[in-house]
Amino acid sequence: MKVLVIGSGGREHMLVKKLLEDERVEEMFVAPGNGGIAEEAQCIPIKETDIDALVNFARQEQMDWTIVGPELPLMLGIVNAFRAANLNVFGPTQEAAMIEGSKDFSKALMKKYQVPTANYQSFTNSDQAKAYIRQKGAPIVIKADGLAAGKGVVVALTEEQALTAIDDMLEANRFGQAGACVVIEEFLAGKEFSLFAFVNGESVYPMLPARDHKRAFDGDQGPNTGGMGAYSPVPDLDQEHLSFAVESILKPVANAMVAEGRPYTGVLYAGLIVTADGVKVIEFNARFGDPETQVVLPLLKNNLLQVIEDIDNGNDPKLEWRAGYAIGAVVASSGYPHQYRKGVTLPDLPDDDQCYLIHAGTVKEAEQFKSSGGRVLLVGAINQTLKRAQANIYHYLERFDQNKAFFYRKDIGDFE
Ligand code: AMP
Ligand code: GLY
Repeated sequence: MKVLVIGSGGREHMLVKKLLEDERVEEMFVAPGNGGIAEEAQCIPIKETDIDALVNFARQEQMDWTIVGPELPLMLGIVNAFRAANLNVFGPTQEAAMIEGSKDFSKALMKKYQVPTANYQSFTNSDQAKAYIRQKGAPIVIKADGLAAGKGVVVALTEEQALTAIDDMLEANRFGQAGACVVIEEFLAGKEFSLFAFVNGESVYPMLPARDHKRAFDGDQGPNTGGMGAYSPVPDLDQEHLSFAVESILKPVANAMVAEGRPYTGVLYAGLIVTADGVKVIEFNARFGDPETQVVLPLLKNNLLQVIEDIDNGNDPKLEWRAGYAIGAVVASSGYPHQYRKGVTLPDLPDDDQCYLIHAGTVKEAEQFKSSGGRVLLVGAINQTLKRAQANIYHYLERFDQNKAFFYRKDIGDFE
């Protein structure tokens, strides 16, 4: 079989590793891929947003399956285009990907179908938005409606910060069209977790829960990033909350998407929070999360391509999970998520019995890996206990300590 993965991050490297477990896969292509992926698959220099070129490539090469990693091509309708060309593709249509692409859409859906989430109101008019903020007071959360590469959420601790966010989004158009509508919602306090499910229409097969660490620095300090590390499953999450998330959040939402004429296929990602009033939704994404995928998929016993085929055929994939925990910490370029240097040579990265390496922002030049992005790579480990897995990754990561061009969080997996 020939398989194409779309994307270039750590999530896509993990997908490639997992898909290659299937002996039927003879040729693996990734567009555009990264330096680490190129060791295991053929990287094709087509941008993830160039839908026409991707369709043409998949058609010419007679691809058996295409698996889409990131949200942008989904929002641009890559699944619709592949289906129209009679090509097998795994991911939601443009209409279904709206659950991530428009926060106003997903909040309205949750309200209509009584899925627990923060109370909210949407605004396009800044005077009305500001009046609402003054009425509600801080803390309060302001979100750009559209995709903003993880930067469109402001958790305002003061009224002033909230009003500034409104000026940025509705007056200064900082996020362009994505910020022309804002969702203003109630601040929720609690511990967060991510729960992905394979979904086809009304069928929902949840994966293990995971926890992402989004802030740049230890102790959840500093700016929000794309994710600095993760672990799975989540020791402080009890079974009752997990069941609620499946039965009262994921399943009703899958049903709601069918009822709305936007049946969902692919991986549905629920960002959840355990509040004093129970589990509530922070956000939905229309794809696997990054870096959670790098710790969830290593625990999946099943053949991923077979799971995708089962889901596509309407069969139960009968997911099975390894015991124990997986954890991963991201090595990032110093300065990320703001300005950072690229092209820095990585230290020697030998194979290790205890750890696995997932590349994100790397390129290979003259037999050496160099950095090419903010999140460079992830070091992961699996063990019976989270503590031991954590000790293993941090031992391996010591090789980055002498190089000021990189940093990583030292507290991934300190869940208490
Ligand atoms: P998002 O980009 O939607 O994942 O939001 C980024 C982060 O903002 C989330 O992971 C939460 O930590 C935080 N956040 C979003 N919405 C809320 C909310 N209503 N209350 C508290 N924190 C929130
Ligand atoms: N880990 C956050 C995300 O994938 O959106």
